[in-house]
Amino acid sequence: MKILVTGACGHIGSYFLENVHKIKKIKKTILVDNLESNRFTSLFNNLKKNNLNFYKRDLNDRKSLNDIKNIDVVIHLASMTNAAKSFGKEKEMFSNNLNCLDTVIDFCLKNKSKLIHLSSTSVYGKQTNIVDENCEERFLLPQSPYAKIKLIEEKKLLKLKNKISYNTFRFGTIAGVSKGIRFHTAVNSFCINAAMNEKINVYKNAMDQYRPYLSVRDAFKVFKFCIEKNFFNNDIFNALSGNFTVRQILNKIKKYKKKINIKYVDTPLLNQLSYHVDQSKIQKYGLKLNADITLDIKNTINLFKNI
Ligand SMILES: NC(=O)c1ccc[n+]([C@@H]2O[C@H](COP(=O)([O-])OP(=O)(O)OC[C@H]3O[C@@H](n4cnc5c(N)ncnc54)[C@H](O)[C@@H]3O)[C@@H](O)[C@H]2O)c1
Repeated sequence: MKILVTGACGHIGSYFLENVHKIKKIKKTILVDNLESNRFTSLFNNLKKNNLNFYKRDLNDRKSLNDIKNIDVVIHLASMTNAAKSFGKEKEMFSNNLNCLDTVIDFCLKNKSKLIHLSSTSVYGKQTNIVDENCEERFLLPQSPYAKIKLIEEKKLLKLKNKISYNTFRFGTIAGVSKGIRFHTAVNSFCINAAMNEKINVYKNAMDQYRPYLSVRDAFKVFKFCIEKNFFNNDIFNALSGNFTVRQILNKIKKYKKKINIKYVDTPLLNQLSYHVDQSKIQKYGLKLNADITLDIKNTINLFKNI
């Protein structure tokens, strides 16, 4: 089996490419990234047994994948991803992320490749209680341009469900270490602040609000499951390791960094309420995501242990 990973140098992609040998079916992996995010480090010292080929390509160009052939599965990760910063960059993000998906859709249709597409639990936005994939569209309230684009992507694919074999996974915020790790999302930014003895910026009112998080190890498990079980259901699934409050995350951090300083700040994402994301739908198909993100937090803080 030959697979293509777009956005392969990113946080999730770089974890996948380091571990791809754990999916025995995969014999070759083609990696594509435009390296806009400068994460060359993701390509350093990879294992020979992973059998990786890298192509620097920009998926804004609809022809950028034309010379790549015989791909069984595409894992599509290429995206601009900084939700909080997406407010100033709305146009650029809309065009980049939708162009990337269009290029990948063209590719899958032409090559009959199956597709793993990533959305985000941030599409649920302003919610109460428990939310699941059946949440009606009028209750989906994405609070950032980033999350609005994710909804447009989901709808594009739903319209093509008779033409492409795919799954969309709404991932919780990623926690954990990879070569392409980023620090702009909640858990990781708290960890780097704690490790550097800096103030941890916590959004006002967010301390006891629940949000979904996904260990990068569970993210890999999602890809492994789809590929090994040939699981492509043309549907949308939540993927998370657990729902936690900021206070719970900070308590996990305190296990490894005793003294932390908290600063309360205004959020650009307004009126957010507490919500739990339900993960029973994917569990019913036999995929259990239950990595303990305390280990991801420990690993992230340990990156700085001798500094
Ligand atoms: N990290 C999270 O917390 C999280 C949570 C939910 C969903 N997701 C989704 O998972 C996917 C991967 O996320 P990530 O955290 O690895 O992101 P990332 O920002 O770390 O990586 C994205 C990669 O895509 C590349 N890229 C962007 N535009 C491109 C283009 N036009 N052509 C080629 N490459 C391009 C970037 O250079 C980068 O290496 C994204 O769709 C993201 O929205 C991530």
